[in-house]
Amino acid sequence: MNILTFETNEELNQVGANIIASLVQTNPYSVLGLATGSTPIGIYQELIRQYQNGLVSFKHVTSFNLDEYVGLPEGHQESYRTFMNNQLFNHIDIPMEQTHVPNGNAEDLHAECLSYDEMMSTSKQVDMQLLGLGHNGHIGFNEPDDTLNGGTHLVELKEQTREANARFFNSIDEVPTQAITMGVGTILKAKMIILVVRGKDKASIVKRALQGPITTDCPASLLQTHSNVVVLLDKEAAGELQ
Ligand code: GLP
Repeated sequence: MNILTFETNEELNQVGANIIASLVQTNPYSVLGLATGSTPIGIYQELIRQYQNGLVSFKHVTSFNLDEYVGLPEGHQESYRTFMNNQLFNHIDIPMEQTHVPNGNAEDLHAECLSYDEMMSTSKQVDMQLLGLGHNGHIGFNEPDDTLNGGTHLVELKEQTREANARFFNSIDEVPTQAITMGVGTILKAKMIILVVRGKDKASIVKRALQGPITTDCPASLLQTHSNVVVLLDKEAAGELQ
């Protein structure tokens, strides 16, 4: 695990975007695993800038997003599909049909999970999976539990997660109670993982995830078992690391 700490957000965004851009420059047919939340936005903005400056093209890239809320109407501002379109896809040259986000409005959600896994297994292996980190150690929407799921599955969101995400909605009542998420098994299959964490409020969970015991109680701690993880931290998030 390669842990890098940055003085400024700009430097962190630049390095995160450069790793992704160089993958795509080396292999234009890369498969990217993408994440939502506030954490990756600066990296996406830097990728858009590099695209606009002609440094990288996403024409042949395929993407798979980690997760999606269940039950938000199509086009809802806080659906992860809308987020990805607004924050990245609408500003680069990736064809929309090469982008994948689980469908949280599928009539049969279990069938949707199976078909998402099916699509991922028929595609090439994910070259890079981008991850943020929840305050309780979740990755994607894999919440702490006695056991974790390997593949894409339906989850009941923890109250803590709904509270953390309520800042994006008018009130907590509007935050969905369920989501579809890739499983930890799927995430760990990626050739490379970039975990990005910012802020003092995540310093203690960063320590647990990176230097604590490997436990399903902190899903991100399973990243310690992967051989190619780059962790990008601002100095606040790195504050409790030894
Ligand atoms: C959300 C997402 C995660 C994200 C995390 C942190 O619930 N499902 O993929 O990493 O919470 O979000 P943020 O980056 O806004 O702190």
